[in-house]
Amino acid sequence: METKTVGVLGAGNMGHGIAQILIRSGYTVFLHDLSQQFLDAGAGRIAKGLNRDVEKARMTAEEREQALSRLKTTTRVADLGGADFIVEAVTENLEVKAGVFRALEPHCGPGVIFASNTSSISITRLAATTQRPDRFVGLHFFNPVPVMKLVEVVPGLATSSDTVEVAERLAVSVGKTPVRVNDGPGFVSNRLLMPMINEAVYCLMESVADAKGIDDVMKLGMNHPMGPLELADLIGLDVCLDIMKVLYEGFRDSKYRPCPLLEKMVNAGRLGRKTGRGFYEYAK
Ligand code: CAA
Repeated sequence: METKTVGVLGAGNMGHGIAQILIRSGYTVFLHDLSQQFLDAGAGRIAKGLNRDVEKARMTAEEREQALSRLKTTTRVADLGGADFIVEAVTENLEVKAGVFRALEPHCGPGVIFASNTSSISITRLAATTQRPDRFVGLHFFNPVPVMKLVEVVPGLATSSDTVEVAERLAVSVGKTPVRVNDGPGFVSNRLLMPMINEAVYCLMESVADAKGIDDVMKLGMNHPMGPLELADLIGLDVCLDIMKVLYEGFRDSKYRPCPLLEKMVNAGRLGRKTGRGFYEYAK
């Protein structure tokens, strides 16, 4: 079945970016969040992103208007019942995600595929909380979604090959490159990235260098576009900590122990760009 309408759960950092690339590629999107305020913020960021595309002559003003007309925002999950494909991008917590799927599932036809943008929770485990584990797949986008090329496509134990193929086709249709990765803690991306970020926080905690020094080493010596601490601020320190906990608990290996300074920063509410302060300060 051809996918034309996509339901996106969550209008935050990842959800709004996913909705943006979908409407830009011709899909109709029902974007859901808990409050109209979250939806307005997400829709505002999408409009800003598309304005940038017009300024850069990547699309015409008319194409922008057509794309925006394909975006429908709603606080009622029932409105996503007409979608052919669902992408979930809500808070990185198993219970929260499972609750959202439970609320949505009675409104969706049996053929509809559920995809989760989880960055580390087991797809097999999430799929098992639904009535459709064969039509459940991980579709892991990267931040900023309109810019980053990669999508990790993660089949769970029960995911059918048809489901994986539909998910891969969707990723290609929005200009991304899907890479198939089996279900394991952190998949590939965060199993490699997060220990590096965590180690950078240890370097800071142990005064090996200051934040700028640590970031400069990786930018100038390793050609990374951003240093690990700047990147942690972009991702959100709470998200980084949650992923380290998934790795630590998933592998039961002390090498994934979250750095105490990372935990302290999260406890202090210094979550990075989104709160105006992380390893660096940001103008609100
Ligand atoms: N949202 C949307 N677009 C953005 C953006 C954002 N937050 N930040 C930058 N961009 C766009 C800019 O608008 C610009 O586009 P145009 O000029 O073509 O319109 C383009 O990206 C390049 O931006 P800049 O020239 O300002 O800056 P840059 O060249 O330094 O690139 C960057 C910025 C793309 C963010 C780059 O620094 C980068 O690639 N950083 C690494 C990002 C990364 O590693 N992301 C993965 C995080 S891990 C994750 O997401 C998964 C997880 O599970 C935690």
